[in-house]
Amino acid sequence: MIETIRWDGDAVVMIDQTRLPAEENYVRCASYLEVADAIRRMIIRGAPAIGVAAAMGVAIGVAQARPESLDEDFERICAELAATRPTAVNLFWGIDRMKRVYRAHRHLPFGQLRDRLIAEAKLVREEDIAINEAIGKNGASLVPDGKTVLTHCNAGTLATAGYGTALGVIRAAVEAGRKIDVFADETRPFLQGARLTVWELQHDGIAATLITDNMAGHFLKSGRIGCVVVGADRIAANGDVANKIGTYGVAVLAKENNVPFYVAAPISTLDLSIPDGGHIPIEERAASEVTHVFGVRVAPEGTAVCNPAFDVTPNRYVTAIITERGVARTPYLESLAALTAK
Ligand code: MRU
Repeated sequence: MIETIRWDGDAVVMIDQTRLPAEENYVRCASYLEVADAIRRMIIRGAPAIGVAAAMGVAIGVAQARPESLDEDFERICAELAATRPTAVNLFWGIDRMKRVYRAHRHLPFGQLRDRLIAEAKLVREEDIAINEAIGKNGASLVPDGKTVLTHCNAGTLATAGYGTALGVIRAAVEAGRKIDVFADETRPFLQGARLTVWELQHDGIAATLITDNMAGHFLKSGRIGCVVVGADRIAANGDVANKIGTYGVAVLAKENNVPFYVAAPISTLDLSIPDGGHIPIEERAASEVTHVFGVRVAPEGTAVCNPAFDVTPNRYVTAIITERGVARTPYLESLAALTAK
């Protein structure tokens, strides 16, 4: 399996997703500030992966903190990591989990507290892989045999600690013997589909075809697509789903053409504190991601640009939400609450 992120003695090592597929380069983050910078610059990206990175960032930050001002340093480390990206709730989930461990073990000598936090961060990573395998198992039977699965963005190994959520469902379906292939939306402007999803599926020998985002409707109408499976960055209590920009359009087109639209995500992506998707903060990224493609300007100087990195798909377009604890269907208010309570 491709290694997205790992703890390496005194540093966090991650595959540089800004350089794929041209270069398989690994970045070594030796401080929490370097981890925060890697999340911000999308060297590591994808909701579960940035949750793991944030947990490891907290651990590395504490390991380098001054024991005499530990509480103050801890708050600063957590605040810096929390300020990197606003939409994926897994980031905050990862930090909160480390905060709970910090508080529970604050009384210990510094070395023991540090080791406890490092162990927790490693556990977050290991658990994420197991969670994704469970999501895959729960979703595999939903994937129709002999058809094409459409996905948007990258919700694979690269977006998690391993195996992936949406791509985890696809992997599990293939492992279960389903004869399927995958259509990957290129996912402008950051091209996660073209650069990452196709690369990852090729790595695993799963047949993948790249399409541009504006081709999705054409193929959804054609009868070729058996289902859509995407990941999520935050899911509100009512089942509204924030995911990569463009997901909403795919969901509407799927419903129009009677194609099931599945969201695969861990319980840590649920945010039951918000009633609906209108409360999800949407990250706005740099205009240069839209005006430039690989450093080459494709729009005139001075072009006004909007670049929301995510959109919200209303729950009525979501056929089911596949989690490690089971599959939720409408009414989501009840089904998601029941899965969380499990
Ligand atoms: O901006 P990104 O690349 O971090 O956005 C990633 C997505 O939108 C993914 O679909 C989502 O995080 C789910 S990843 C399992």
